[in-house]
Order: sequence, then structure tokens, then C-alpha cells
Amino acid sequence: MNNLKSKLEGRQPKVAIILGSALGMIADAVQDAIAIPYSELSGFPVPKISGHAGKLYLGKLGGKEVAVLAGRAHAYESGNAAVMRPALEQLKEAGIETLLLTNAAGSLKASMKPGSLMALTDHINCAGMNPLIGQHGDENFVSMTNAYDSDLRKAMLAAAKKEKIALKQGVYCWYSGPSFETPAEIRMMQIIGGTAVGMSTAPETILARRLGMKVVAVSTITNLAAGIKGASPSHEETKREGAKAAVNMQRLLIRFFKDMK
Ligand code: HPA
Repeated sequence: MNNLKSKLEGRQPKVAIILGSALGMIADAVQDAIAIPYSELSGFPVPKISGHAGKLYLGKLGGKEVAVLAGRAHAYESGNAAVMRPALEQLKEAGIETLLLTNAAGSLKASMKPGSLMALTDHINCAGMNPLIGQHGDENFVSMTNAYDSDLRKAMLAAAKKEKIALKQGVYCWYSGPSFETPAEIRMMQIIGGTAVGMSTAPETILARRLGMKVVAVSTITNLAAGIKGASPSHEETKREGAKAAVNMQRLLIRFFKDMK
């Protein structure tokens, strides 16, 4: 069988982590790990772009059992905003209760520099897509209040404090990509209350809430967004700066799991 539940080998992770661009190294910190290629898990997307692996790791981080997805598919690869749905359904079926999402994002604030980490308080959907479009049934009218769980965010902030990492907080604007935003779009996102912009995470949060999972999310800020003085968003910069911020992200996550009840 190609479902995750049948491949757990007695492990019982309750939390799954999706690693964003250039954060793949965090998978190396998973102890006692078994790695399952996405190709062996039906419905898991085999990523096509560089900087994204395609493996699920089962093991321990900070002494707690986790499932780590190194690599995600993005809506811009196919136009399908629900591309992660089969994978999230499998996580749910395997007993996952909490989804920890990470991503690379551009900063909408000149003061939030590349290398910063930001916990998501909320998101704004600027992509004009929704992964639940086409689904039928009342369950799809999912509440998005407290979608980014405030208790989990508090625990993340506490973990950051212990590690002396300056974890910012803010609102993530989901942009479809794959082109970067125009400077005018960035000005709009600043006006409507955004703090950072990226091309993932929000659809996964919507799907996870639909499936009844709790969500906590952290961005690595890899660049200033288009049009901000000194900004030069590019995929190369995302990968380079993301890899640098990954060191702090790894420390943060290990502390978060160590202190998790
Ligand atoms: N815009 C959108 N997505 C991103 C950016 C950005 O500036 N940086 C990293 N991911």
C-alpha cells in the first residue's frame, strides 16, 4: 500500500512539518529517521523546481516524534491550489493533529531584514484562488478565525526567546507567483495590512483547517519585497538567504519541540 499510515513502522507523530524553500537541511536534524520518497506515497507531489526535495522523514526533533515533509508543491506549478490536499489527507489519516508550516517570504517592511524569522498571525489571500473551490458540503465553509493557532504561536515565541532569536510576528500575503510581485502590488499589500509575501502556506493552512488540524507557521525572510529600497527578489536570493536563516529556524524548531508538552 502506498499510504503513509501503512509505513509508520510503529511511529506515532502528532505533528507534521512542511519545510519551505532552502530549509531542506532541517531534515538532516531529524534523529532516528526513516525517509520515504514522495514517489512511494500516493498523492504526494513530486516537486519539480530546484531547492525543493521530495521526501518525507519520520523521526524525532527535540525528542518528539515528527513527520517532516522536505518539499512541497506550489499552486503556481499547475494552477491547482489544492495540490497538497492528498498529502494533507494522508497526514490526517496517519494521526497528525498539528501542521507546522515554514516558508521563504519577502518582507513588506524595510525594518524586517533578510535573515529574519516571522511567525504568522494571519494571512491575506491575494492569489484569487482557494483550495476548497469545487468541494461540496457545508464543512467547506471553514472558519479562518484563529487559523494560525494563538497558543501554538505563543509556544513558538517562548521557544524563540529561550534561544535568543528575534522572532517577529505578522500577516502573510499569499501571492500566486511564479513571477514576483510588481512594486505597485507590494504597495497594495503594505496598505491592506501585510507584513510579508510568499507563494505558499495559505492554501495549506486552509486545507489543514478544513481537515481539523491546528496550524502554526513561520517564515524565513529572504529578501525585501519588490520596490522597497535595496530589494532584488530572485529565486537565487531566496535560496541563498533562506539557507542562512535555516540555521536559526532549525534551532527554533528543536527548542519548540523540546519544550512541547
Ligand atoms: N515574493 C514572493 N515570494 C517570495 C519572495 C517575494 O519577495 N521571497 C521569497 N518568496
